[in-house]
Amino acid sequence: MSTVRDSFHSRIGFVLAAAGSAIGLGNIWGFPTQAANNGGGAFLFVYLIVTVLLALPALYAEVYIGNQAQKNPVSALKEACKDTAPNLGKYGGLIGLSGAIMMLSFYTIVAGWMLSHALSPLFELLGQHELSQWLATSSTQRNLMFTPLFILLGAGIIHQGVNAGIEKWSARLMPILLIMLICLIVYILQQPGAEKGLATYLIPDFTQVTNPKLIISAMGQAFFSLSIGVGGMMVYGSYMKKDRDIGKLAVSITALDTFIAFMAGLLIIPALYVAQEAGQQVFQGEKLIGEGQLIFNILPELFNSMGTIGMVVAISFFSLLSIAALTSTISSTEVPVAYLVEDKNFTRSKATWLVSGIVLTASMILIAFFDSLFGVVIRVLTTILQPLSCLFYFIVVGWLWKRGNKLRDVSLQQGRKWLPIWGNYLRFVCPLLLTVVFVNVAILN
Ligand code: PHE
Repeated sequence: MSTVRDSFHSRIGFVLAAAGSAIGLGNIWGFPTQAANNGGGAFLFVYLIVTVLLALPALYAEVYIGNQAQKNPVSALKEACKDTAPNLGKYGGLIGLSGAIMMLSFYTIVAGWMLSHALSPLFELLGQHELSQWLATSSTQRNLMFTPLFILLGAGIIHQGVNAGIEKWSARLMPILLIMLICLIVYILQQPGAEKGLATYLIPDFTQVTNPKLIISAMGQAFFSLSIGVGGMMVYGSYMKKDRDIGKLAVSITALDTFIAFMAGLLIIPALYVAQEAGQQVFQGEKLIGEGQLIFNILPELFNSMGTIGMVVAISFFSLLSIAALTSTISSTEVPVAYLVEDKNFTRSKATWLVSGIVLTASMILIAFFDSLFGVVIRVLTTILQPLSCLFYFIVVGWLWKRGNKLRDVSLQQGRKWLPIWGNYLRFVCPLLLTVVFVNVAILN
């Protein structure tokens, strides 16, 4: 291949793009929904532990492989395994790539909901009450309009390339999202019922923390939220100059992503209890009613309670979420696009449109069989495919790459004393921990 690879112009370019990938619907839609459904504080507690023990090392391993190989995930994994099992590497990469498509198939649907909820209050302000209602109500027609619209938006950015597209978009608007979250948290915590939500969220019920279903959900959520196991972070790692301090980068991305998820929980879980206090039925037994769609009832209610200013808040909040979803979509799309451009000689533009076409088809199938497929695809991706991919990354870095612990050798050469410990942690402890979780879940199910 003779094309010159696109790359990030600076270290900060990588950080922003990777943070843009990590921060998305997983933080603001996925995390609070999962936490509310799995006992609040117990979920948060396990989530934090799993993030530090497994997701952070997996992020490190994924970025590290991409950065060392300077190639797309399929070629990178093939190269990393070339002395031991090149085919295994290649197929591992291709499985990650299909995970990226799976992620996009449902993610673009939820992102479409965000877009329509951003437009709904706008039309209300313009006096178009019926249209506004339609936009705020879940329906197949709405999905059929907004999912393709969102895919088109993403394709428009991605086909411009890494520097012009991704880096620029990722640099914007994240701080505004954080400020909005903080203001909304301050508002919600003053409403009746919020205290109960706060306690549910912050005080773990320790009898639940060993529940295997909760552990696997928390792990899946952590992997999803950090965008690991589908090659997105690997491809971004490959666009960064070689031999940066990946440890520091991984820690800052993890900290930022986890902080935003925590803050989203601090908003949404009290908001659920405020809605309940106001007479809305939120839970049936321990479970959320409407699960994934619930925040789309709760949040607009919350914004309505603020009067006219609430409409402006609603427009900005859902627009920012749409943008956060866009930067996450871009990193997933980049995985198959980079593969097609580098290994199959596609032009960037052709690759982008082909991938977008495949994603559109997949998402249309999900829309057609929504009730039976939507939740299953999310579960298969986050609780099976992503953790298995991460297990594979640990094995590649620790065992297969140049027949041994390349990470330890490199770190010894660089004279960093603590890195051998880290290398051995990735090599022995991480794969073991992941396997223990899997085996437990399999036995207890
Ligand atoms: N991390 C993103 C989010 O939290 C989702 C994502 C998953 C993006 C996998 C890329 C790859 O919304």
